[in-house]
Amino acid sequence: MYLTGYDISILRFTWGVIEDILNHSKSIKSFNIRVREPRDLDPGQFIMLWIPGLEEVPLSPSYYDGSLMRITVMKRGPTTEAIHRLRIGDRVFYRGPFGNGFKVSNKGRYLLVGGGYGASPIIYTAHKIREYGYEAMYVEGVKTESDALFIDEAKSLGLDTILVTEDGSSGIKGLVTDYIEEVINEYDYLLGCGPEGMLLKLLELCNRYGVECQLSFEAIVKCGVGICGSCELYNTGLLVCRDGPVFDSRILSRYLGGV
Ligand SMILES: Cc1cc2nc3c(=O)[nH]c(=O)nc-3n(C[C@H](O)[C@H](O)[C@H](O)COP(=O)(O)OP(=O)(O)OC[C@H]3O[C@@H](n4cnc5c(N)ncnc54)[C@H](O)[C@@H]3O)c2cc1C
Ligand code: FES
Repeated sequence: MYLTGYDISILRFTWGVIEDILNHSKSIKSFNIRVREPRDLDPGQFIMLWIPGLEEVPLSPSYYDGSLMRITVMKRGPTTEAIHRLRIGDRVFYRGPFGNGFKVSNKGRYLLVGGGYGASPIIYTAHKIREYGYEAMYVEGVKTESDALFIDEAKSLGLDTILVTEDGSSGIKGLVTDYIEEVINEYDYLLGCGPEGMLLKLLELCNRYGVECQLSFEAIVKCGVGICGSCELYNTGLLVCRDGPVFDSRILSRYLGGV
């Protein structure tokens, strides 16, 4: 059965067991979850994770191999705080995956840009790109060195890897978008996820330099399947849960105009 283009079975909850927890910083943790039911999940797609007694929250996994799923979660409000209190051996429930992920099947040179916890779907995408054997550079932009998430993992994948810190505590000092402007010409595709200001600047750079881009946007996601309308991207009529969260530059430019 299908609902707004979805196989309805993704609306059914499944669950997994937490096998390992990594503390990246005071506010960000990763959880390795052994999933009970393998479901196809492309990088950039999201799940709705449910903590009984609280709300469901959308999360884009930072790794998935059909059996192990990693989520990387920033503590923000009640539900993400409850996720941070979970322990090894606890069960987590989720629906999905939902939405459209990053498309990486075209041969070419990829520039991967993650800002803050937005690096989460980007590092999973990096794993896929390495599977295809394409060239890529992985760039992570954070406020300070201790906020860096997947720099060692990207290096271990054999990718050129750059950390940009706003305070200059490690890597290149400055804004990640300033660094991207220096190198964007060398790439065919840019894939990005992070704060809205970073995404809009990346879109502008891609339009200016003629680079195809795919950007993952956030919105308030409730139903996850295009029914409730809570996740409209600006006033475009595009729904983040159904038409995104990853949008390509042609769609974004058509709906948002020349940013
Ligand atoms: C497609 C997508 C992927 C995401 N992936 C990640 C990820 O990998 N890691 C991560 O740390 N965060 C991710 N987020 C953001 C995460 O969903 C919010 O931080 C979370 O919902 C906040 O819930 P809360 O109850 O802790 O905080 P509160 O701010 O108290 O949120 C209250 C409720 O509002 C809604 N809400 C608030 N902020 C957001 C938001 N930014 N997006 C969606 N709903 C929101 C949720 O329904 C939430 O339960 C993603 C968001 C989207 C849309
Ligand atoms: S979350 Fe309901 S329409 Fe997108």
